[in-house]
Amino acid sequence: MDQKKLREFLNDMSLDEKIGQMVQVLCLFHEKEGVITGPENTAGYTEEEIRNAGSVLGSCGAAMLRRVQDNYMKNQPHHIPLLFMADIINGYRTVFPIPLAQGCTFNPELVQKAAAVAAKESAAAGLHLTFSPMVDLVRDARWGRVMESTGEDTYLNQCMAKAMVEGYQGTGSLTDKGKIAACVKHFAGYGAPTAGRDYNTVELSERTLRDNYLPPYKAALDAGCATVMSSFNTLDRIPSAANKKLLREILRSEMGFDGVVISDWGALDELIMHGIAKDREEAAGLAAEAGVDIDMMTTCYSRHIKKQALDNQKYLELIDEAAFRILQLKNKLGLFENPYKDADEAEEAEIILCSEHRNEAKEAAIESMVLLKNDNILPLKKNGQKIAFIGPHVNSRLIYGAWSIFARPEDTVTLMEGVNSLGIKEAVFANGCAMVDSIDATEINNTKIDPEVHEKLRKEALDYALNADVVVLALGEHPLQTGEAASRAELDIPKPQLELFRQVYEVNKNIAVVLFSGRPLEIKEISDKAKAVLEVWMPGTEGGNAIAEVLFGDAVPSGKLAMSMPYCVGQVPVFYSEFHTGRPYAGSEGKGRYFSRYLDIPNKPLYPFGYGLSYTDFEISKVRLSSNELTKESSLEASVTIKNIGSFTGKEVVQLYIQDKFGSVVRPVRELKGFQKIELKPGEEKEIVFSITEEMLRFYDINMNYVSEPGEFNVYIGNSSDTQNGKSFVLI
Ligand code: GLC
Repeated sequence: MDQKKLREFLNDMSLDEKIGQMVQVLCLFHEKEGVITGPENTAGYTEEEIRNAGSVLGSCGAAMLRRVQDNYMKNQPHHIPLLFMADIINGYRTVFPIPLAQGCTFNPELVQKAAAVAAKESAAAGLHLTFSPMVDLVRDARWGRVMESTGEDTYLNQCMAKAMVEGYQGTGSLTDKGKIAACVKHFAGYGAPTAGRDYNTVELSERTLRDNYLPPYKAALDAGCATVMSSFNTLDRIPSAANKKLLREILRSEMGFDGVVISDWGALDELIMHGIAKDREEAAGLAAEAGVDIDMMTTCYSRHIKKQALDNQKYLELIDEAAFRILQLKNKLGLFENPYKDADEAEEAEIILCSEHRNEAKEAAIESMVLLKNDNILPLKKNGQKIAFIGPHVNSRLIYGAWSIFARPEDTVTLMEGVNSLGIKEAVFANGCAMVDSIDATEINNTKIDPEVHEKLRKEALDYALNADVVVLALGEHPLQTGEAASRAELDIPKPQLELFRQVYEVNKNIAVVLFSGRPLEIKEISDKAKAVLEVWMPGTEGGNAIAEVLFGDAVPSGKLAMSMPYCVGQVPVFYSEFHTGRPYAGSEGKGRYFSRYLDIPNKPLYPFGYGLSYTDFEISKVRLSSNELTKESSLEASVTIKNIGSFTGKEVVQLYIQDKFGSVVRPVRELKGFQKIELKPGEEKEIVFSITEEMLRFYDINMNYVSEPGEFNVYIGNSSDTQNGKSFVLI
């Protein structure tokens, strides 16, 4: 439908119809034949409000969504199609590694393919829009939602945000088959809650917000992201759903976004809890003025905005503005012409979990794993080595992350199944302990651990460990210990598992730990004692096959940490692009007391951003610069030669960091400005070239202008953020 016709369409709609478009309820309410207020009608919607709501969330399935669409549209005075949205953040039914793991691939092309598979499968299942990518910068592992982010670095998150949007939406029309609209979230700064506690206050300077937290959202919008989700948190003490400066000045005026803004679940009601609205009528007015177009799961818009509109023309205009954006989104998706979009049961059956998709998920899992330590114990031998696989994650199917709401455990390949499918003859398997102890279990899933069962598990495991050449310990977080509302003040692996590790260590020192987690954990003791540590995050449907292939050398690990692994929880938040301070400790060790340091731990994380080992070794030459001067008009080339000096073909991520040595405001010790992932055979070498321009050196200066400043810069090129392989140039 062309814009003129769409505008006429809007003008023909009643006020109730327009307001209805601004409301989103659970699809569940429409799924029951006849009765449409389902069991979760916690918002207390009336049947009329549910029938009138213009979009729904949380369900998929071609047959069911087609039926819901038919029932919905016939009751619509203008037969406006319903918009189906859901959280597909790392895969629909073929589940890929969690986004934090995908960040560790440093491979945007792979991440784009993962999003494209998620789009194809969910589009066939009738979905129109996914609440992804989540691009919140994260630097505090206590926050459970770090699993949904691609990490601590602005530049890496920008690259991954673009890749995910292009994967979901493609680069053509949203009507294209197998494509769905994306929704970048959570705008803005949700990843920096005070003390790592979910939903807590966010205190960021405007300069830090603009320099570090906003660019990934902007990258998503520049890639054409169709919608934005406003966040729960406050910024400068204003909740995002009511933050006019954030949503109208920054998002719409500065960033040029003219699409739909949807609130997060219940966020309009939360304006009352925050204490900036005394009731839902006031909350509705604040959100409409700020530019929230869709109210997810409250009755603020459906029941309270109309009175505001009848009292004040301004709200009539705001309603028209919001309703028109929503109609435009439905129009871009082609829903007026084809309200089912790609919903197709035959297609669904054919492509969901097909071998091609499974294989892509396996490749993504392989590239997302980070080998943190390896004292020549990996890869394992397929023959002639007695291997005991021990730990609660040996048989766990729940290894696909907290937001995989459509995943089915039976589709997952466990670590044991992966090892068995390689035909490993001398492997034995034992759970060894419960995943969490009784206290956690009560908190997490109300199951008590029977002490007798516990003792039996432990004894069996120690017998296996005693008689093995190598023990692979599959340890890590319970699935409900990570994700939304899963903030943790301690970052240890669960107590029963740490106890099991210590007991196995007493009987066999040849231990390789495979670590399943949704966040960087505190693993100092494990790292000190184990001979190898492989961080596999939550690797998804094909996790077991991927881990087995890496453990036995059929695949070579190449992941790099997208988020620093802390020395201990007391060090958090910890991230590489910190500032010097006036009393930097680095380099002043032993020179006295009065430096920015801890008395009891080092400043450096256990493992830094960008770090990860391979089974082979790479040698990177000194940095070469095409010039040691750069002007606003020129560019200079920074290059190295990298050589595979080991015995495995492997992939390396060559990273470019730049340090602005002096500025009108303090500047980070270094920042990632480029990376290239390449594969080299043993003995092969390649030149890696980065182009450096003045634009890459810009930041918000003392006057909040986004500029570069002349002066001296250091360039570092290496395979981790702590590389010292550098050279200087001057911007004139
Ligand atoms: C949740 C999350 C958000 C998600 C939304 C819909 O509370 O904060 O990321 O997209 O609700 O499920």
